[in-house]
Amino acid sequence: MNFELVTLDLAVAGHEKSDVLLMLLPASFKPGKNPLSTLIGKALKSGDLADKPTSLLDIYRPAGLACARLVLVQLGDAKAGNVRKGVQAAIALIKPAKPKQITLCFAQAPDDQALHVALTALAEASYVYATTLSKAEVRTIAHVKVGVPDSADLAAPFARTVAAVHGIELAKEWANRPANHATPTHLARAAQALAKSPRIKCEVLNHKDVHKLGMGAFMAVAQGSAEPLKFIELQYKGAPKTQAPVVLVGKGITFDSGGISIKPAAEMDEMKYDMCGAASVLGVFRALAELQPAINVVGLIPSCENLPSSRAVKPGDVVTSMSGQTIEILNTDAEGRLVLCDALTYAERFKPRAVLDIATLTGACVIALGGLRSGFFSTDEAMTAAVAKAGDSSQDLCWPMPLDDDYAEGLKSSFADVANVAGRPGGAITAAKFLQRFTGKYPWGHLDIAGSGWKSGSAKGATGRPVGLLLHYVLSFQTSAA
Ligand code: BES
Ligand code: MN
Ligand code: ZN
Repeated sequence: MNFELVTLDLAVAGHEKSDVLLMLLPASFKPGKNPLSTLIGKALKSGDLADKPTSLLDIYRPAGLACARLVLVQLGDAKAGNVRKGVQAAIALIKPAKPKQITLCFAQAPDDQALHVALTALAEASYVYATTLSKAEVRTIAHVKVGVPDSADLAAPFARTVAAVHGIELAKEWANRPANHATPTHLARAAQALAKSPRIKCEVLNHKDVHKLGMGAFMAVAQGSAEPLKFIELQYKGAPKTQAPVVLVGKGITFDSGGISIKPAAEMDEMKYDMCGAASVLGVFRALAELQPAINVVGLIPSCENLPSSRAVKPGDVVTSMSGQTIEILNTDAEGRLVLCDALTYAERFKPRAVLDIATLTGACVIALGGLRSGFFSTDEAMTAAVAKAGDSSQDLCWPMPLDDDYAEGLKSSFADVANVAGRPGGAITAAKFLQRFTGKYPWGHLDIAGSGWKSGSAKGATGRPVGLLLHYVLSFQTSAA
């Protein structure tokens, strides 16, 4: 999908040739004197375009205008929620007609957040998964002209949003692919493909390499599967070496059966999504490749399958992590924290200014927050503020969760330094407490995206979250607006 930002006032918009002209109208809109304005004024006055947010009015071959179809979208207060719903409703309306070229026109200048929400909602509503279907439906909307009163003002946020959309779509693509089409090896190749872009490097470590590093926890999860593990390291270098990087660590379990502590059959297919964290890191690098900002970012993806077999790790086994801490694996289904802990230790070598991990870590987080907000854990104030702000600007929301030390009580073990599970209560928090033991050397944060990474049921599919949040977060380290 191709976006183009243009300056369009309503007089000019009326002359725009397009399959569909989508007019986004805030309640405060005052019509001018050109034909399009006159039409909008009449529609508002008559009540045919209701003043209720997200009301639509669909007009075929409007006289005197160059578009084949005009859709008026009432935005009400024009806040993010209404912009999203309005764009979603409009795309749902026009999708059956298979438009190729649409013009999305803001009658009044949007703020950065509204622009971001409108374009990401448009991309989301027109997305189709195709990779493993023999006769896939194709996305017809190829070209979107985005009209605003003054395009110069919005050039930078527009570029950021378009890059975010491309990153989100890459993340969705990899997350949606079935596990046999998205193995650790496939993910490693996807990362290597990103490294063709300027300033990006990729290195892939295999079993031998991680063995040498002493990643006993990661290897324990991988050992039950014939599919080889990969530890993917991406580096984006857009700033001088002296600037410490931000490290993103994405959980890359390409299928989580639970291992010997096997999961129930119902909905187990959804555990192909247990690499949504990894997919979001790939998505961020896709966006960095496009934007080329003056920052340094490292992406780490420990990737493997979690399967039962005669070689699989067993409940009660004790392994030694790269940090030297021993871990009693009481439940092989708590594998995410095992692959992440070694990646978090590995992250120390970059002397990072901050490390943020992203993981579909716990069912408990789904119970706590549902799919709307990701769970965010950190004791670092600066990071907490920056991540909350990034979530707000991208409307890719998260919510702060606690890390009191007493939550770690249940992780005590008689046979190792720490157990990989505590009881069921506060499961998202005890998982975060486990991770925290491996993060003493840098400011750290953790995003549990078990609820936000994909949707279940009839609308099953990856969301591409939290690429929007992550991109805004890493870009907040730009010293000047580059
Ligand atoms: N990948 C799952 C978490 C998950 C489950 C995400 C369901 C989304 C939906 C993770 O590896 C896991 O199995 N966690 C266990 C931890 C438990 C054994 C302490 C869980 O949440 O049940
Ligand atoms: Mn699991
Ligand atoms: Zn998992």
